[in-house]
Amino acid sequence: MGETVEGSGVGSGEGMGCSHAHRAWLTAAVAVTLLWWQLLGAEQNTAWIENGGTALQHKSLSCTLDGAAAKWSVEGGVKATPSTLAFQELEGPCRNEAVERVKRIRLLLEKDAGPVLVGGIGDSGTRGVQILLSHLGVDMGYKNHPGIKDTVFFTYDSLVFMNGAPAVPCDRKDLSRVGPHDVYDPILKDLHRISFTREELQDDELWYLGEQLVANITWQMYWQVREDARVDKSLHPSLLFGFKHPRTALLLPFYKPVLGDKFKFIHVLRDGRDVANGSNRQMFQGLCSDYFGRKCKNTLTQRLEFWAAMNLEVHNWGREHLGAGQYLMLRIEDLIEGRAGCVRAVSDLLDLDEVWYSSRVTAKRQGRRL
Ligand SMILES: *[C@@H]1O[C@H](CO)[C@@H](O)[C@H](O)[C@H]1NC(C)=O
Ligand SMILES: *[C@@H]1O[C@H](CO)[C@@H](O)[C@H](O)[C@H]1NC(C)=O
Repeated sequence: MGETVEGSGVGSGEGMGCSHAHRAWLTAAVAVTLLWWQLLGAEQNTAWIENGGTALQHKSLSCTLDGAAAKWSVEGGVKATPSTLAFQELEGPCRNEAVERVKRIRLLLEKDAGPVLVGGIGDSGTRGVQILLSHLGVDMGYKNHPGIKDTVFFTYDSLVFMNGAPAVPCDRKDLSRVGPHDVYDPILKDLHRISFTREELQDDELWYLGEQLVANITWQMYWQVREDARVDKSLHPSLLFGFKHPRTALLLPFYKPVLGDKFKFIHVLRDGRDVANGSNRQMFQGLCSDYFGRKCKNTLTQRLEFWAAMNLEVHNWGREHLGAGQYLMLRIEDLIEGRAGCVRAVSDLLDLDEVWYSSRVTAKRQGRRL
């Protein structure tokens, strides 16, 4: 990190990196300041992602917000509430299966970096990061669907995640598969937050189903990249794999106990004013009421509140539970501007070596290696 792109404004001074002082940034951006990002000289200093470049190039929507809406403060947006469920300590098939799957996946990943997850609030630019990662040689899965275009609803790299895993339940007898929403929906309804411990969750069966899900989809992706590598010679030799889905952020408290330090999480953040005014409101519409435990109205202010509270919570969780080598918060505006430090930070997170990095990333205008 810390390189600059030769030329004017963007490259020099503060703001080159993309992973520092985020909490302060986040709080300031949401709560008080409404200074519009300056997209100074972005065109002239673009660290270009070859091939993927066009997709990363879109500019933020312009978005104005009146003062009243902006004065809302992020503090107090995230409240811990005790579970309303009765504690139950379960023995039985759901537990045995979870224990077994966790054991198997940990053994499998012993010499492997594990998956790279890309998440955040929908419409933040996770797709752009997916393209960047593919370009850096990470198998993001979507090549398995040649000719099928990603849709606004999902990208094909997240199919395994969305399809879920075979489930071995205890009491929920009719559950033969478990998908992400089977896990996070009841949790949001009960706890109104996305960071929790097993003890706080209290519903043992749900916990084990979450573990089964995460262990199994990781297992499927691990084998998928090995399959893909036979035909796809652009992949990094250490067979890195990952996927993007904004809602991975909702399953982080399962990823950590199941995979330990064998996963990485890229938290994509886009200016909340753009997200709140954007057309993709799926996450807000689907989750807001459960998340806050009250009826959400589809207004700009409430969408902004949701953006702020959820991003802060994800960020706090990431900082508390994941080390610097495991968690990266990425402002999509930095990436769009092509800040060298930003692409570099992603590469560092993946532990890519210099030769590999410079074979994939070049500075467009100057023809300079970044
Ligand atoms: C939201 O975006 C539209 C354009 O898509 C724009 O006309 C409108 O002014 C924006 N609203 C706010 C509050 O920024
Ligand atoms: C995951 O599920 C697949 C079936 O989809 C199964 O073949 C595999 O053994 C499971 N692996 C683990 C670790 O759960």
